[in-house]
Amino acid sequence: MAPNKARRIAVLASGGDAPGMNACLRAVVRAGCDAGMEILGVRRGFSGLIAGEMSALGRRDVGNIIQRGGIVLGTSRCEELHTPEGRSKAARSLREAGVDALVVMGGDGSFRGAWALVQETGACCLGIPATIDNDVYGTDFSLGFDTAVNTALESIDRIRDTADSLERPFFVEVMGRSSGAIALEVGLAGGAQDVVVPETPTNVEELCAGLQEGFRRGRRSGIIVVAEGDEAGGAFILAREVGRCINTEYRVVVLGHVQRGGAPTARDRVLGAKLGAAAVDALVAGEENVMVGEVGGRVTLTPLREVSERVKQTDEALLHLVHRLTH
Ligand code: F6P
Repeated sequence: MAPNKARRIAVLASGGDAPGMNACLRAVVRAGCDAGMEILGVRRGFSGLIAGEMSALGRRDVGNIIQRGGIVLGTSRCEELHTPEGRSKAARSLREAGVDALVVMGGDGSFRGAWALVQETGACCLGIPATIDNDVYGTDFSLGFDTAVNTALESIDRIRDTADSLERPFFVEVMGRSSGAIALEVGLAGGAQDVVVPETPTNVEELCAGLQEGFRRGRRSGIIVVAEGDEAGGAFILAREVGRCINTEYRVVVLGHVQRGGAPTARDRVLGAKLGAAAVDALVAGEENVMVGEVGGRVTLTPLREVSERVKQTDEALLHLVHRLTH
């Protein structure tokens, strides 16, 4: 590999925004400038790339953003990225702007699109995992997850106050399209009575039996954390089913997009800084088509092909611990 091959790089966010993306953008721009690169910021993700919406970014352009949630560049869920025509338009934009490498902050869907772009057009892409769902293969943590967990936890602590006072069970739905990562962490940290996640089959009868056993022991309230992607169909549907057998008043709260916003935690800012700088280091070293991640506290590189083809394994130990300590 030819070291320091990339002279001009473009950076974009793709898919759902995640707290920590701005810290990461700042790191890419500043580390890139230090390495003598020209940096282009792409607005509105791959949709903006296809439309050629890019402009140069310097060190000062990314000042005062480290503490902000969302992503100042904007992002998009770009359907065109998942078509050969869209990818060919994206590659043309990169060629016309003289871009040597594209840095993509996103989740697994974005990396599948980026890998297809690499294969079909010869573009060079570098991935940085950023999704509150924390379901990207090749990293222990993705940007935004820690903030989302802490935001959800704060809400659950508040819900618990009213749940205890009025002696009601609450079904609280947290985000996670096909991942129970947020649900497991907040369930454990928030002392939930039960947690339902898409990674394991949800047995409604067992859930009811567990709640009824709690009532027999004098428990009148409790938090049941439901990952939105669970096959039960979400908190409202599950609560209705469970409500039929527990014969007690309950409430449902869907935390929704509240979990995606807000100032990033220190952990997400630090992770964003580490991964952004590591992405630039990887390009300087001549790496192509890899994702930077953090495994066991160390920065790692995983081929984009693997990231796009493999599925992140559920943390079985965490799952086990949650079930040991709930009920
Ligand atoms: O970014 C991930 C995520 O927040 C998922 O947890 C959720 O299912 C989805 O995005 C929501 O997407 P949208 O913002 O497009 O409604």
